[in-house]
Amino acid sequence: MKRSILHSRLKWLLFLVSFSFIMPSCHRTTDLSSPDGRTVIRFSLSPDGAPLYSVTRDGKPYILSSELGLKLEGADLSRDFRIENVTRASADTTWETAWGEERFIRDLHNELCVSLTGASGERMVIRFRAFNDGIAFRYELPGDGGELRIMDEMTEYNFASDPVGWSIPWNTPYYEGLWTASPLSEKRDTLCSPMTLEFADGSYGMLHEANLTDYAGQNFYVSRLEEKSLTSRSEAVSLHTYLTPWSNGVRVYGSYGSTVSPWRMVLIADNITDLAASRMMLNLNEPCRIEDTSWIKPMKFIGIWWAIHLDHYTWCYRLLDNEGKVKGLSPNHGATTANMQRYIDFAAEHHIGGVLAEGWNEGWDGDWTSNLASFTTPTPDFDMDYLSRYAAEKGVQIIGHHETGGNITHYESEMEQAFEYYDRHGIHNVKTGYVHSKLEGKEWHKSQYGVRHMRKVIECAAAHHVCIDNHECVMPTGLQRTYPNLMTGEGVRGQEWDAWSTDGGSPAEHLCILPFTRCMAGPVDFTPGTFDFSNPIHPQTRVHSTLARQLALFVTIYSPLQMASDMPESYMQHQAAFRFIEDVPCDWERSVVIDAKIGDYVVTARQDRQDTDSWYIGAITDENERELTLPLTFLDADTEYTATIYADADSTDWKTNPYAVDIHEQKVTANDCLTLRLKPCGGTAIKIKKIRG
Ligand code: NOJ
Ligand code: CA
Repeated sequence: MKRSILHSRLKWLLFLVSFSFIMPSCHRTTDLSSPDGRTVIRFSLSPDGAPLYSVTRDGKPYILSSELGLKLEGADLSRDFRIENVTRASADTTWETAWGEERFIRDLHNELCVSLTGASGERMVIRFRAFNDGIAFRYELPGDGGELRIMDEMTEYNFASDPVGWSIPWNTPYYEGLWTASPLSEKRDTLCSPMTLEFADGSYGMLHEANLTDYAGQNFYVSRLEEKSLTSRSEAVSLHTYLTPWSNGVRVYGSYGSTVSPWRMVLIADNITDLAASRMMLNLNEPCRIEDTSWIKPMKFIGIWWAIHLDHYTWCYRLLDNEGKVKGLSPNHGATTANMQRYIDFAAEHHIGGVLAEGWNEGWDGDWTSNLASFTTPTPDFDMDYLSRYAAEKGVQIIGHHETGGNITHYESEMEQAFEYYDRHGIHNVKTGYVHSKLEGKEWHKSQYGVRHMRKVIECAAAHHVCIDNHECVMPTGLQRTYPNLMTGEGVRGQEWDAWSTDGGSPAEHLCILPFTRCMAGPVDFTPGTFDFSNPIHPQTRVHSTLARQLALFVTIYSPLQMASDMPESYMQHQAAFRFIEDVPCDWERSVVIDAKIGDYVVTARQDRQDTDSWYIGAITDENERELTLPLTFLDADTEYTATIYADADSTDWKTNPYAVDIHEQKVTANDCLTLRLKPCGGTAIKIKKIRG
């Protein structure tokens, strides 16, 4: 059905020019321009046949001559090459997303494909694409199906200047860290992809990868260029690629003819608004492979979850003694039939689509990080048959849960039946989890081993009409274009840290950094919506936020499965403010970052996909009070709207009086400019709806 809508609604404009020619042997350089002509990639071969590229922006150096290539076991694919042939292509298409921040995405790029042959006949293809918002390239290894092992990737990014990089170390457990900023030249750690770059002239960039399907996740490390004696430019910095290894040191197992690297991408943006608007990563992924996507539904959910993190409930049904023997039943097991029914009732009454049940299945007793759970057997106090009927009657989806503890072999042996079991019970969304520092006790989550497993899960889930919210995930790279049942993921220091971390909770600036770092890689299950800031377990730790800011997060952080994380009883304490959470959708027609300074504040506006007469705005600040102006130029001209504004009140103070929210309505038009007054750790959430006459 989606297909026919797509064909009828879209005018496809596909302009593909492709020609190939043999390069004269003296001709070792070729250029590729972005469609707007501002960015130019130059490919060249060094005198010893090493593939190199450089990038200029508006005629100025952006990336200086940088190495390309792969080291295979038994073959060095980084030198002694000659150019076999070069082909070019261009594309200008528009495609419709199954869900997302944008309904329609334009893919406008030029392509250059360079086929190389080595001294002993080795072949490698490097395919470049130049977009108006950045560049990308990938390696392809043509051939006859013979096996290969990639031991290293030589890709470099020799930046002509020394931008500030916003990064986390590559081995941050589950990527759940605080992002820090420093000039690239001062970075000592190996760094995780993505990394956001802030240049002295106010422009931005980002390094990441797209379409990571059967390869190792990339990371970066830094060296000064003069150390390599490549240049005398003291400000230039060189980033090198570090592929996440298997435990035996191999980076990638592959075969000639099918191994293709993910796209290496460099976003290039004049300002932060343009950075956030880039859809290049999605454009570099393959079109949707799910014929009928009508079962894939963005929605908000609540869950038997936060109360577990606050120790009100347990995941476990049984309690074990030190020797692992059952010593009794938990007096406060969370996922019970009665609790679920209560949550389902609340969801049905308050326009919330789903209810998550964690700790619903047998096998959580004791140390659940070495989970050998059954994914098809509920605990005796969780009546799945009854609950699935009850939820269906109420129009609410149960969100399933698979905590694997990183035991991949066990999970893969149960996975097929587990998704089939959920499908049979009308459950079409599952939160998966991999809490263990290594998969199978030895492999990094973002090694090729982990990447392959996550891909299997998405495909198996799709076959059973199940969508995935992947915790302890591989850093996303846009695969949701191809498999829109991969809806969201963690890979972030989420709000759960404010329940149990011992460091006081995440600083308010964290949420002003995430939209331009982790969120650029894909949807985030951050779990906003805390309405009770007291913390009985770690009184020194708390959510650094006012209540109005919790509402704004539903707009500033994008997720098509968006959790309102607090308990129904907390929401009932502040019903007027909760109205915003009831109203706000999580599927958008358009999204615009209106104004932002990474780490300081962000103002985002999004248009509801189902009701394009409505816009939602979220504005948040860091620990500093701030006054921001919001021009409403994104609204239709000559049209009246009602704005419902949820703002920090004069008396709001995130430590002593966080719950005070000033809620008021006013009429607005596109000519208006609102003044937003944000308290420290504060925010403003606004719903703007067209007045129909
Ligand atoms: C870690 C996840 O991030 C959290 O949301 C979940 O509750 C636990 N694992 C248990 O699976
Ligand atoms: Ca987590």
